Parts: sequence; structure tokens; C-alpha cells
Amino acid sequence: MVTPSFRLRGFDIHKEFLDREAQVALLDDLRDVVARAPLFSPRTPRGKPMSVRMTSAGTYGWYSDGAGYRYERRHPDGQPWPPIPERVQAIWSALVSPNRGPDCCLVNFYDARARMGLHQDRDEADFSWPVLSVSLGDDALFRIGNATRGGKTESLWLHSGDVVVMGGDARLTYHGVDRIRPGTSTLLPDGGRINLTLRVVD
Ligand code: SIN
Ligand code: MN
Repeated sequence: MVTPSFRLRGFDIHKEFLDREAQVALLDDLRDVVARAPLFSPRTPRGKPMSVRMTSAGTYGWYSDGAGYRYERRHPDGQPWPPIPERVQAIWSALVSPNRGPDCCLVNFYDARARMGLHQDRDEADFSWPVLSVSLGDDALFRIGNATRGGKTESLWLHSGDVVVMGGDARLTYHGVDRIRPGTSTLLPDGGRINLTLRVVD
């Protein structure tokens, strides 16, 4: 197994896991994904539009609207999600398991004003599989809380190329993104941040 740079509240933080060349290649793959499955703005179950735009690759895509948070086999336009790019699968293979691939690669796009409130990832059937997250583009202030809502939290800046693995006792830990720091990366020509989260769904 690959040793993380450090651990914070059970989250394995792999700083600079992807070098610039690998980030550029990944971005190229993601352009194909977004061309086939355009970004959209989901609504929370309470009807509020999320500030993050998203799409997915894989057997399942994560989705939300007035009917709740869930996984769907199709993009809202009716098409199946495109396959998870091989370079993305390779990161999972290196850090989680070469034997069982992820079912979903959620692609989140943060513009300068986007954020993501503290939440748990709990729409999956089997919490023994970790969630793996890849950061690309502008820096993000990532906040880690506790197994239940509330209590003290700790934050760290995630940079382009960093990978986080949330598993074991930390699989259901609350986490979120307070803000991004615009202009901190030149990876995306128009700025912003992309976060990929890979999950086993069923
Ligand atoms: C998420 O928790 O779904 C996204 C985390 C991130 O953007 O770093
Ligand atoms: Mn999450």
C-alpha cells in the first residue's frame, strides 16, 4: 500500500499524489466525460440549488432533487453515464483496491463562489469501501468534523494533485468545503476547482 503524507482524523492525505503531467492528462479525460455528460446544478431535497455543478462517470451517478439524495443509472438527459476513465481507475487501484473498481466517479466543479456544506457520504450500500477524492485546480479549504453533526472541526487546504482517502472509522465522518481560493492554480484555463469522488455504490 502507498503510505499517505499524513492522517487527519482518520482521513489519509496524499499530498501531490499526481504530478502536473498526470493532472493535465486527467483533465483531458474529464473534458470527454463532461462532453458526453454535461455538468448540471442539482437541487437539495429542500429545493435549494447547490452552488457546485456536477456530473458523473460510471455505472451510477450521484443525483439530488426534491425526492432526495440518491444514485441514478442515467444522466438527467436520459443517457447512461460515460465510463470512468482508466487513469482515474488507476488511482483507485493504487490506493484502495486493484480487485474491485469504483461504481461511481462524481465530478464536482467549484467556481469562485461555490462551497459544500458539512455532510456525510452515506448513500452507498457498503461502508467498508472507502471514498477516494482527487483535487484538481484551485486550492480548497477542506473541513473535517466528526461522526455526528457538530463538535470541533479541523481544516486543511487541498491543492491540485492531492488525493484523500476516507475510509475505516472515518468513512462516515462529516466533511465539506468552506471555499476555494481563486487564482491559485493554472491547471484550469478559466480557473475553478474540480473534485472527483470515487465510490463503491452497491
Ligand atoms: C465531497 O465531499 O463530495 C467533495 C469534497 C471535495 O470537494 O473535496
Ligand atoms: Mn462528500
